[in-house]
Amino acid sequence: MFVRRIAVIGTGYVGLTTGACLASLGHEVVCADVDIQKIARLRHGDVPILEPGLTELVTEGLAAGRLKFVVGARNAIAPTELSDEPVEVVFLCVPTPMGTGGAADLTAVETVAREIRDLLPSGCVVVNKSTVPVGTAARTKQLLGRRDIAVVSNPEFLREGSAVHDFLNPDRIVVGCDQQDAAERVAALYSRLGAPTLLTDAASSEMVKYAANCFLAMKLSYVNAMAELCERLGANVHEVTEGMGYDRRIGQAFLKPGPGWGGSCLPKDTHALMQICDAAGLEFPLLKASLETNERQSGRMVDKIRTAVGGSLRGKRVGLLGLTFKAGTDDLRDSPALTVAEGLRAEGAELTAFDPGCPAAVPGLTDGIVVTDDPMAVAKDADAITVLTEWPEFRALDWPAMTKLAANPTVVDTRNLLDPAVLRRAGFSWVGVGRR
Ligand code: UGA
Repeated sequence: MFVRRIAVIGTGYVGLTTGACLASLGHEVVCADVDIQKIARLRHGDVPILEPGLTELVTEGLAAGRLKFVVGARNAIAPTELSDEPVEVVFLCVPTPMGTGGAADLTAVETVAREIRDLLPSGCVVVNKSTVPVGTAARTKQLLGRRDIAVVSNPEFLREGSAVHDFLNPDRIVVGCDQQDAAERVAALYSRLGAPTLLTDAASSEMVKYAANCFLAMKLSYVNAMAELCERLGANVHEVTEGMGYDRRIGQAFLKPGPGWGGSCLPKDTHALMQICDAAGLEFPLLKASLETNERQSGRMVDKIRTAVGGSLRGKRVGLLGLTFKAGTDDLRDSPALTVAEGLRAEGAELTAFDPGCPAAVPGLTDGIVVTDDPMAVAKDADAITVLTEWPEFRALDWPAMTKLAANPTVVDTRNLLDPAVLRRAGFSWVGVGRR
């Protein structure tokens, strides 16, 4: 394998995982970020996000001298004490948040492109890893204004909470460029992983990411709608999805109903694809229905909790188990748990929450919720307890002790996480999703 000198711009979930994993594959990697404090922490191996295996890889990379952290994109391109070889591949891993009307905001990509364009050594390849609208590779090439620099699309498919595992065991590598040699050069970075590799044009590669994430969102909305139907007809969604999932064309993964899908990717990408469709003059009713079904799902959870406390949430104490958008992460962005909490609060409920990934209040996100690091405090005088995130440790809570603390021992389990029989033995009534 050729060792490449790589710069990674942006040290969020994607950038940091990409940098640390590429270093673990033997490449020389310099990661850059504008956040001076974050870089200072990373230089000491202090990883600011909860991501299994990432701290170990960062520590290893630093110790082996294959991983370095610098402030500012320009410093990642310039020769470093790590190596005076010119940088060969530059990964753009900067945020592309939801902008006006749901379109992806490309300001960060454009700023970095302008910042580095005069510094890039001739023949170097710029890789867009952020999720960006179709046409961004072409636009980045234009912004760079350099005929000698190829721009490649190489979307990432990492899930938060298993990002390192997903990077090192990918289902596929997708690389798109209108210059075959540049695409091959980027694909070769991953050759040790032995994954199926799709080499395609830039526009198709950019579209793969939206097509995949929106399909996943649609799959979940379908399951959530199916769960509602199961409730009405007395079927059990768990059995139904298991039966569906044995069909290899469907598969068992991504079939769990919940309080709605969230996080920093699926909602953003679904809204962005809606915008892309609008701009292309195309209606995509399936996509619209997926979003509407998702909005309805959090409301359905509020309905269940209202019913569990006797018909009105005003002045009722509701204990929340989980705040993050899924288990195994500390990320609260676009968390369905917070959407449900907001719905409860709007009807006058008093909320106390426990989440293993969020031990204290986060201003601007958890306002109006008492965040505790003691799960028992969630049960204290509660009129209902609701599971909003599927942290496995909730199964091992001392449910008999919680029954004694609660004012009304009832659990609304929006993730179907707990064993209803265990809960009933402990003295709780249990309500799930898609089950009688
Ligand atoms: C998602 C995709 O799964 C990744 O492939 C993609 O790379 C990533 O977005 C991205 O674009 O960067 P992520 O946002 O980390 O990954 O989270 P997921 O594991 O996909 O979960 C998304 C939401 O769906 C969560 O709220 C989760 O609780 C929910 N979900 C997931 C369910 O309700 N049921 C399931 O069966 C699975």
